[in-house]
Amino acid sequence: MRIAIARETDPGESRVAATPETVKKFIGLGAEVAVEPGAGQKSGILDADYTAAGATIANDAAKGAEVVLKVRRPDTAELKSYKKGALVVAIMDPYGNDAALKAMADAGVVAFAMELMPRITRAQSMDVLSSQANLAGYRAVIDASAEYGRALPMMMTAAGTIPAARIFVMGVGVAGLQAIATARRLGGIVTATDVRPAVKEQVQSLGAKFIAVEDDEFKQAETAGGYAKEMSKEYQAKQAALVAEHIKKQDIVITTALIPGRPAPRLIGKEMVASMRPGSVIVDLAVERGGNVEGARAGEVVEVDGVKIVGHNNVPGRLAASASALYAKNLLTFVETLIDKKTKALAVNWDDDIVKGTALTRDGAVIHPNFVPKPAA
Ligand code: NAI
Repeated sequence: MRIAIARETDPGESRVAATPETVKKFIGLGAEVAVEPGAGQKSGILDADYTAAGATIANDAAKGAEVVLKVRRPDTAELKSYKKGALVVAIMDPYGNDAALKAMADAGVVAFAMELMPRITRAQSMDVLSSQANLAGYRAVIDASAEYGRALPMMMTAAGTIPAARIFVMGVGVAGLQAIATARRLGGIVTATDVRPAVKEQVQSLGAKFIAVEDDEFKQAETAGGYAKEMSKEYQAKQAALVAEHIKKQDIVITTALIPGRPAPRLIGKEMVASMRPGSVIVDLAVERGGNVEGARAGEVVEVDGVKIVGHNNVPGRLAASASALYAKNLLTFVETLIDKKTKALAVNWDDDIVKGTALTRDGAVIHPNFVPKPAA
């Protein structure tokens, strides 16, 4: 069984799908591991580190491999080099990318989308959304503080007192919780909002204040999977009014709101940005999914009347070494379930929930129920 570790082709991708530690584990499971040269460089892992762990370095690592591990979905050129039936495991970004899914089906590969991993206890260690969002939430606060021209904690010095920064976190999933915790560690006065009621206690337990319109719709706003629903226009208007009042007094706002499979909800409009003091900073972690903030631009820091709107792409990739270490571990625990420990060969159990939940393509077709092409009406 040959496992290939790809060098990412997207120049904006600094992460890698394996570390020397996971390579060793794969070899222990009976695999041969081939790594494309330079694959780990941006994450601080040298080719020599992989060879020391037992891997070989090869430009055509993917050729003939039964498993290809990647961070991002393979492009057409990469697909051409894969063998038919190869298992390709990556963050596939499947929503709205039907043509790319078809290309993977046509290439005859079995594509697994790690971000579709069901949120069941057994699969927690395979949850890439959590492992990466946690780091993004941390980095958002670090990026905000770097753009902010003041200190975050209150400082009482002989030369005078510096007030603590007021930090508002919008969307309290995994990223938001880590943003709150980080902002608190740095001494900010932290408030947070979300549409899911379960979050209130979590916010308070981190020492932050919860702010939301808590009406009947709010009380029902969580899906069985623990995700947010899209809220009604009326709720959004009420929420916007509350936020508008609050935001005027904030120094830093971090937005993380997402709804699976849908564009990110718009939480901050132009007027709200304009109401903030010059020198304030907004970090939009949802910018790649359409953005929570009006005026945010993916890959840029824009300034509107003295307010900076930070829209970095691939925020987990800004902590590439940490992000790769956790992502590689997520892949290892998933791929382990696809290997028969006795025969040391691949043995995919197509009835397993984690396989059914993540498999996008197989035998030349898109098979995931959420993405099977609909017959023309
Ligand atoms: P996400 O990345 O899908 O969304 C981020 C946050 O934005 C969510 O908290 C969501 O409620 C919020 N949001 C959406 N629309 C909003 C709006 N209009 N205004 C304000 N906030 C809005 O969420 P994430 O981080 O994936 O977490 C979702 C849930 O899944 C959480 O409860 C988390 O604790 C849970 N979870 C469960 C796991 C498990 O294995 N059981 C693993 C990881 C997370």
